[in-house]
Amino acid sequence: MTAANTKKLYIKTWGCQMNEYDSRRMADVLAPLGYAAVDSADDADMVILNTCHIREKATEKVFSDLGRIRDQKNEKAARGEKMLVAVAGCVAQAEGEFIAKRAPYVDMVFGPQTYHLLPEMVVKATGERVINTSLSAENKFDNLPSESGDVGPAAFLSIQEGCDKFCTFCVVPYTRGAEFSRPLAAIVDEAKRLADRGAKDITLLGQNVNAWHGQNGETLGDLLYLLHDIPGIEQLRYMTSHPRDMHDRLYDAHRDLPKVMPFMHLPVQSGSDAILKAMNRKHTAAEYMDIIERLKKARPDIAFSSDFIVGFPGESDAQFEETMDLIRAVGFAASYSFKYSSRPGTPAATMQGLIREEIKSERLTRLQELLRTQHTAFNGTCVGKTMPVMFSGKGNRDGQLHGRTPYNQAIHVDAQARLLGEIVPVEVTKATATALSGRIATRETVLAA
Ligand code: SAH
Ligand code: SF4
Ligand code: F3S
Repeated sequence: MTAANTKKLYIKTWGCQMNEYDSRRMADVLAPLGYAAVDSADDADMVILNTCHIREKATEKVFSDLGRIRDQKNEKAARGEKMLVAVAGCVAQAEGEFIAKRAPYVDMVFGPQTYHLLPEMVVKATGERVINTSLSAENKFDNLPSESGDVGPAAFLSIQEGCDKFCTFCVVPYTRGAEFSRPLAAIVDEAKRLADRGAKDITLLGQNVNAWHGQNGETLGDLLYLLHDIPGIEQLRYMTSHPRDMHDRLYDAHRDLPKVMPFMHLPVQSGSDAILKAMNRKHTAAEYMDIIERLKKARPDIAFSSDFIVGFPGESDAQFEETMDLIRAVGFAASYSFKYSSRPGTPAATMQGLIREEIKSERLTRLQELLRTQHTAFNGTCVGKTMPVMFSGKGNRDGQLHGRTPYNQAIHVDAQARLLGEIVPVEVTKATATALSGRIATRETVLAA
């Protein structure tokens, strides 16, 4: 392929890591057609907006980007050149028809289960408009090419997609479709290919990653044991887990497998049993606490992060306080928290007892203050410790690299560029609520650790 006929592909990604993964796969599947990724929509031959529908204003954000892209498309058209504009992801899935109607300059609208069909859709879109929001059960992953080029030291691997849980607030079961687990052999193959291409740290992804199951009843724990044996893979992570899908083998994996990082993202959403019930989470606060205790027994140095929703319909002050109590009881290393946002088509959207915006804001502020104190405290306990850090990129200034700790903390370290891509022992020297700094450990600090 010569530079002259390379086409510029700009993909903008919102939302979860599954979307990040999908964007990379879209770039891979378009590469044989001559598309190469660029980091701006200016002058691009094709623009894909890979969107997220999880909270409100999602569609507005897409339209505001589309407005700018329409202008860029028009400028290109004035020069006699074409720009293909595509909207993908969960907003496309949920609002495909609406986008197509309101934005006539959009050439393609397609949902998350159709990415393996991109080459044919692109060819078709040069002549007519393409809209594809089918939620086909056919496995897109096994029809996508494997990761091309150098994958870098930290790689994502989607093992599961979709969701059958139907939490009453959530759009995912509608935008991603039914729960689907990739076959075990396909996952192991992809992990081996990633390791061959230089990946040392693999994060397994899924909307409900621990709902993953193999065709012979294997669970996520079994998969971790298998991946643990792949030469070259030094660290294993996974997200996002659901408290309903905790299997014995996953606890065993945390107990037995040193490459499984001592960290778990386990969203609880609320600490009130009544609210958990109304959310259709199908577990109680006490059951969540039991999981935490059991994981700590399996792996005493484990730390947790979670997602929280405040102001779910009907949430009383007392019920909100139960969430605060649960947070105090667990002590989180990191977290994401949101005001409840009504999503059209979900059962909660028609529930009584909407909480006023000011109350939601007050609750969120209090919750985030408490969590921030906990994050700062957790990060503080890391100071003085030596831990393996995977250097994944250059830091903010020359002579600095940034990386991830086993607890997923961002860390900056003065280090030579040759260490990029390596996992190196680092002594943590400083901590804030959101990040750490450290220095390359000496032989003495490593031995003392
Ligand atoms: N599968 C994961 C979460 C997927 S969505 C789980 O079951 O926990 C990521 C997070 O977005 C959720 O954990 C929830 O905290 C938040 N979220 C989802 N829908 C929301 C809504 N309608 N309003 C506010 N936050 C929401
Ligand atoms: Fe959404 Fe619930 Fe499924 Fe998570 S488990 S993706 S919150 S429906
Ligand atoms: Fe958003 Fe879809 Fe992920 S709604 S969070 S991009 S599954």
